[in-house]
Amino acid sequence: MSGDRKMRLGAFLMAGGHHIAAWRHPLAHAQAGVDIDHFVALARIAERGKFDMIFVEDAAAIRERNSDMASQAARSTAFEPLSLLAALAVNTSHIGLVATASTTYNEPYGLARSFASLDQLSGGRAGWNLVTSASELEAENFASSGLRPHSERYERAEEFADAALAIWDGVEDGAYLPPGGADFTDRAKLHPVHHRGKHFAVEGLLESPCSPQGRPIMVQAGASDVGKELAARTADVVFAASQTIDEAKAYYSDVKARLAKYGRQIDDIKIMPGISPIVGATEAEAKAKYRALQELIPDAVGVALLASYLSIQDLSSYPLDGPLPDMPETNLIQSRQQLIIDLGRRENLSIRELARHFAGARGHWQVAGTPAQIADAMEERFSAGAADGFNVMAPIFPSGLEDFVTLVVPELRRRGLFREAYEGRTLRQNLGVGVPAKR
Ligand SMILES: Cc1cc2nc3c(=O)[nH]c(=O)nc-3n(C[C@H](O)[C@H](O)[C@H](O)COP(=O)(O)O)c2cc1C
Repeated sequence: MSGDRKMRLGAFLMAGGHHIAAWRHPLAHAQAGVDIDHFVALARIAERGKFDMIFVEDAAAIRERNSDMASQAARSTAFEPLSLLAALAVNTSHIGLVATASTTYNEPYGLARSFASLDQLSGGRAGWNLVTSASELEAENFASSGLRPHSERYERAEEFADAALAIWDGVEDGAYLPPGGADFTDRAKLHPVHHRGKHFAVEGLLESPCSPQGRPIMVQAGASDVGKELAARTADVVFAASQTIDEAKAYYSDVKARLAKYGRQIDDIKIMPGISPIVGATEAEAKAKYRALQELIPDAVGVALLASYLSIQDLSSYPLDGPLPDMPETNLIQSRQQLIIDLGRRENLSIRELARHFAGARGHWQVAGTPAQIADAMEERFSAGAADGFNVMAPIFPSGLEDFVTLVVPELRRRGLFREAYEGRTLRQNLGVGVPAKR
């Protein structure tokens, strides 16, 4: 038991499953990426489990340059997240809807407007996972000059976040008046934005009432120093990838320690690392499920995926049964590159072993066990100052999420760690984070 503090849970949805070979498993659905009925079913399973939110990742590009890999990874088709979540909004009533969108390939007004719209049509359940985008394939779709440097992407993201927040805050609650009066608007409650910065100029007002939750939820997952700083200043929720409890604790206390200088309290941000649970009636059954999935990974796919996260063209010229070579610092996801290097060294893994391990959940924490063992592992991190909750990444959909909701959620409830019913109707109310002071 951890007093009255409750765990936050997100359901990270991804086509047929988070495991790279999920689509090859008999229980998965290979065409899931663009099957709306599949996503509606997943959203309803997560809402039945009283999850705080569903979360959808994004890159505005195909995922693989390597066509052998693309043909064997089933990551080639996906819905655009905001339109997917708009469809899920009308098929659910309480669960939060968090979409990923890039500050590198959008403009603040357009994106603030889209999230305000999702927030209105869902009754205050929208969240924006702000990313700076680290894919070269994505860069090629928007500019011929290639991927901008990490520091420049974050500089733009800082300004983007400020402009978007100001746009949302430009319309106060009660700005649109009840019928029967002389005016449709209370002009004193409308505050046109005057933003002029290095990257953007915005003059104007949102054509939307104030958010039903005060302001859409801001989510972030940057783990570099500048990424953590932006999260500490603007995020309500932070996703993270940590392997060991010590890494998770270090990340947690680092982000929380940055809050005070922005006048924020430690509970103003919920830190939710990823967990990929493989649930079995017995430990042996869970481990066998994991092994069955692992056996479906072709070595070439595992190694190509690892290479893409390490941002190295080709790992196949190195002996697969030897250790990872030294890596130059990447312009892509620096923290994930470091996580892979640390994992390889700590567990003395060859390239082949590292690739197979990484392919299960792209570097996120994987736990195979009984519902009680999975709840034990989550409780340990929740109580030790390593997490406020978890972003649950089922290896296969729908069965992995169904297993978690029917077997692990009741175990968390029995321990007093997770809600029995939604506390409110908005995502902000359910997460238990207040509305930040308006700008
Ligand atoms: C759970 C999780 C989900 C993420 N989803 C996305 C995504 O959908 N699109 C994306 O471009 N980056 C995504 N990222 C990457 C981060 O948002 C961030 O851009 C990246 O870690 C680079 O920033 P950093 O160098 O500060 O770590 C995700 C990271 C995590 C931990």
